[in-house]
Amino acid sequence: NTYEHILTSSPKPGVGLITLNRPKALNALCSPLFTELNDALSKYDEDKSIGAIIITGSEKAFAAGADIKEMAPLTFSSAYSNNFIAPWSHLANSIRKPVIAAVSGYALGGGCELALMCDIIYCTSNATFGQPEIKLGVIPGAGGSQRLTRAVGKSKAMELILTGKNFSGKQAGEWGVAAEVVDGGHAELLDVAVKTAETIAGHSRVATVAAKEVVNKSQELSLREGVEYERRLFHGLFGSQDQKIGMTAFAEKKKPEWSHE
Ligand code: HXC
Repeated sequence: NTYEHILTSSPKPGVGLITLNRPKALNALCSPLFTELNDALSKYDEDKSIGAIIITGSEKAFAAGADIKEMAPLTFSSAYSNNFIAPWSHLANSIRKPVIAAVSGYALGGGCELALMCDIIYCTSNATFGQPEIKLGVIPGAGGSQRLTRAVGKSKAMELILTGKNFSGKQAGEWGVAAEVVDGGHAELLDVAVKTAETIAGHSRVATVAAKEVVNKSQELSLREGVEYERRLFHGLFGSQDQKIGMTAFAEKKKPEWSHE
């Protein structure tokens, strides 16, 4: 595929890697970039050989936000009529395979929100997260006020969003925003992300999609509804071939050869 603002590759079997590649603007997320990102995500999601997806940027920037130069001239009418930012929901709403964000450098505004939409965040200790929209006279617009609040709790999210101050990768790890803070730079970070993606891609695809779905439901349903939802899907997996394959392989002390069905 020939994209202008992103690169795609498969560093290991089963792993789809999307690299945001708009270095002159620190990977500012302009609309054309997001169109390409959504296209690449959809293709990996449909590709049977791919089991997990990674989104990353560069050493300097995961993404420094939505494109301020694109937003500056918007009016209420144009933003509202064209449903500005709506395409950003594709990742959270429609991509069913696990997506890992590997964040080094800046993840500000929409960049932070993009990371928060992913299923797992890994970062370097000196990654810089933040929701600085307030300093531009606006507010987070791609889910930041909701997802950051769920991630760090109300008081801290309120402080971050009202002051616009940044937080470090190290803090992201301490607060549970990031699953792991990787020692080293971008290369070491990517190694860790690829290893996890490989592990995920080595499992049954049907079980993996179900696992992602139920964890995400926990963010939206009451505990009781969520537990019931989980149980229904758990029951459903006894209708998959991979349940038989996985449990038979365990009994036979063999490695399962998934059908992904
Ligand atoms: C457009 C951007 C940009 C952005 C950086 N650039 N961030 N362009 N949108 N969000 C461009 C700069 O204009 C500059 O272009 C080039 O990238 C390099 O940036 P510098 O500022 O020269 O780099 P540096 O001095 O290293 O500072 C890095 C920085 C700073 C601290 C990250 O660029 C910065 O503060 N950027 C904006 C961060 C931000 O406010 N993000 C939130 C955006 S609002 P030129 O052409 O001058 O070389 C948002 C809303 C989300 O995301 C809600 C809906 C999704």
